[in-house]
This record gives sequence, C-alpha cells and structure tokens, in this order.
Amino acid sequence: MSVDVQHGQQGINGIWSSRWIFILAATGSAVGLGNLWKFPYVAGEHGGGAFVLVYVVCIALIGIPILLAEVMLGRRGRMSPINSMLYLAKESNVSRWWSCIGYTGVLAGLLTLSFYSVVAGWSLHYVVLSLTNKLYQISATDSKLVFNALLKDPWQLIFWHTVFMLLTISVVGAGVIKGLGRAISIMMPLLFILLFVLLGYSTFVGDFEAGWRFLFSFDTSKLTWASILDALGHAFFTLSVGMGVMIAYGAYMPEKKASLGRTVLAVTVLDTLIALMVGLAIFSIVFANPSIKLSSGPGLLFVSLPVAFGNMVMGQLFAVIFFLLVAIAALSSAISLIEPAVAWLVEYKGYKRYRLVFVLGFIIWCIGLGSVFSFNYWSELKLFGKTFFESLSFLTANILLPVGGLLTALFVGWRMDRDSVIDEVGDIQRGPYRWWFRVLRFVSPVLLMIVFLTSLW
Ligand code: PFF
Repeated sequence: MSVDVQHGQQGINGIWSSRWIFILAATGSAVGLGNLWKFPYVAGEHGGGAFVLVYVVCIALIGIPILLAEVMLGRRGRMSPINSMLYLAKESNVSRWWSCIGYTGVLAGLLTLSFYSVVAGWSLHYVVLSLTNKLYQISATDSKLVFNALLKDPWQLIFWHTVFMLLTISVVGAGVIKGLGRAISIMMPLLFILLFVLLGYSTFVGDFEAGWRFLFSFDTSKLTWASILDALGHAFFTLSVGMGVMIAYGAYMPEKKASLGRTVLAVTVLDTLIALMVGLAIFSIVFANPSIKLSSGPGLLFVSLPVAFGNMVMGQLFAVIFFLLVAIAALSSAISLIEPAVAWLVEYKGYKRYRLVFVLGFIIWCIGLGSVFSFNYWSELKLFGKTFFESLSFLTANILLPVGGLLTALFVGWRMDRDSVIDEVGDIQRGPYRWWFRVLRFVSPVLLMIVFLTSLW
C-alpha cells in the first residue's frame, strides 16, 4: 500500500469534536500515576522548591518543545504515528526509516500499558477497601501488611489487572468520538472536581502548612545531579511524550487554524498544576498525623496515605475519593497508551476497531502477567538486578521514551521540510516559535542524549 493511499485515509479513526476535547484528552494522557505518585515524592525528596524549579526548567527545555513537535507531526500527518511518519518522511524527501519514531512509540506504549494496568489495578482494589471500611483506623503495621498481602496474592492482582484492562479496551474499542472523546469529557471534569474536593479537605483537616513547606521549601543542598536527571526524565514521562501518543492525538485535531503553541501550553500548565495540587493534598494529609513515616514509591500512596485517611475525620469517604481519582487519572492515560497501535492497525488492515482492541488488549494483559508475578512467584527472578516489572519500566521510561523523543526532535528540527513546519506552526523566524525551534534543534537533543546515556550507564 503506498503512502499516498494511506494518507488518503486520514480521519478514518475519527476527529475530536472540538479543540477543547483535544486539550482534555492530552491532559488526561499526561496526568496519570506519574503525577499522583511519583512527582510528589520525588519533589519532596530532592529539596522541594529547588527541585520544582529544575523540573519546570526541564519542562520548558524538553517537555514543551517535543510536545509541540509531536502534536504538529500528528496534525500534519493526520494518521496514526507510524503512517504519519511515513507520510511526512516522504513529504520531506528523507528516508522512510524515520517511521521508526512511530514503531518505537507503539512498542513503548503497549509495554508501558502492561505494567501501568497492574499498578492502576491496585488503586481499584483500594477503592473497594475504603468503600468497605477496611482501612478504618488502620495502623502503620497493618497498612503495610494489607499492601504486602495484595502484592503477594497473584489472583487478586490478576483480577484487578483484568478489570482495568477491560475498562481500557471498552473505552478504546468504542472509537475516537464515542469512546475516547466521550470518556474524556466525563472523566476529566470528574477528575478536576475530585481533586478540588480533596484539596479542600486537605486544607481543612490536614496540615496544609507542613505540606506546603515540604513541597516548596527551597533546599538546594538536596539538589544533586541525580535529582536533575530525575527531573529531566520525569518532565518527559509526565507529558506523555516520546511514545507517539501526542502524534496520534494531534491527528484527531479538528480545525487547522488553532494555535498549537497555546494548546500545548494549556496542556503543560494543567499537567504541572495538577501535579502540584496533588502533591500539596497528599503531604498535607500525611503530615496531619506526625506519627506516620513517609514511605517512598508505591508505599506513599498505598501504605502511608491509608493510615492517614484511616485516622482522620471522614477519612474513609475521602480515601474513596482519592483512590477513585488515581484510577480515573490512570485510565485516561491508559487509553492513550494503546491508541497509536490501534489507530495504525485500523488504517493498515482495515480491521474492525473493537475486535482489534480486544486482541491487542489480550496480548497486553498477558505481558502484564509478568509484572504481576514479579511481586510474588518471580520476585527472585532478576535481570541486571531488576525484576520483570522494573525491567519493563526501565526499558520504556529510560530507553524507548528518550530515544523516541530524541528522534522526534532531530526529525522536526533538522530533517522535516521547513515549509511544512512553518505551515503548521507559523513563523519560526520570529517570536516564541523562533525559540521553540532553536531549543528543539540544539538544546532538547543534547539533554535527551544525556538522559539516555546516563540511564544506560
Ligand atoms: N503521563 C503519564 C503519567 O504521568 O502517568 C504516563 C504516560 C502516559 C506516559 C502515556 C507516556 C504516555 F504515552
């Protein structure tokens, strides 16, 4: 099938009903487990305000430039990331090998979803635990036991992983307009409401001042090279760039005239604000109980927070709200992780979307079993000192994602037909786009190389 014929198929996957739906969908993809669990803890660990500042600089230097580049590629290509890249490589008269941006993205998305779904399943389990009052007045020791019992029980993990995958495929299977678009327009407002309710609660019942201090106190002594690298890597992961997701979503943008810069800025500001708000809420709640020991990684959400909620006024209700928030944020990211692959197969083979989503979902579900078992049966099985779950997370976040981002920056900055870039974004000789283009050409690739090489090292 020639590239032109494929381009003739543009829009066969659908078009967002408005630019706002695009902004919400992209924000939904960006806001996920990364914001809710990783960001608050890493920020607190690495010197609060100083880290937040470095993170914002990283967002500006690699997050925004590549996000804008990806959305532009999608809007110009109007197809799945793989076919968009094939088309754009042809339009720019360069090797079709650039379509590897699409292929690595599809692979990274599917692999990420396999373990993302397992962790998202934990939040569903915790919604039920809170609903059934199992966390009421729970002690720190019991909270740890509850979490460990979940991890050691493969059947429970498989059950929640299955539920989450079913939710994901039922949304994606229904299509871009009736599935993704509709789910996003329900989930995102709900997410904002839950977040504001939670923030209000943490202000009144929690120790807001302590939370604020932990997150924003400017302690440069804790800022190391490792924290700068963490900030770089996270800036990338949190904006969902490097996986072709934003190319896929950009392809469904409705009007051509909308300003890409403003759209991308809206997504970035929302993602960062939500990360900060969640961080404030979490730490205010945890610090309300001085006896709680702050745990790192998953422990913060699934061990420390349940103790805090369990011993607070109306804590059970707010625990339900919190874990529901986590599940919704994870779902709005999960649907974006599978979309590039689905869109490509629909265009390529003309398969029925729901059938295809089911088969793909099943394959991802099977890979997810590896992550499930790495918490129990296979916990001793390690590759370079990492379990299956950790290896997958490393491979995607530290290798595939930076490589995808680097290739995107190089393609748009150096190889893509300049007139096409100008046609999509506007004048790149003057104003903010001039800076965007310079940073994309000279700064982002260098920073991405650093992230990639230091990860390998
Ligand atoms: N941005 C999501 C998070 O912060 O959890 C994760 C993610 C989703 C990364 C989609 C990449 C992606 F393509």
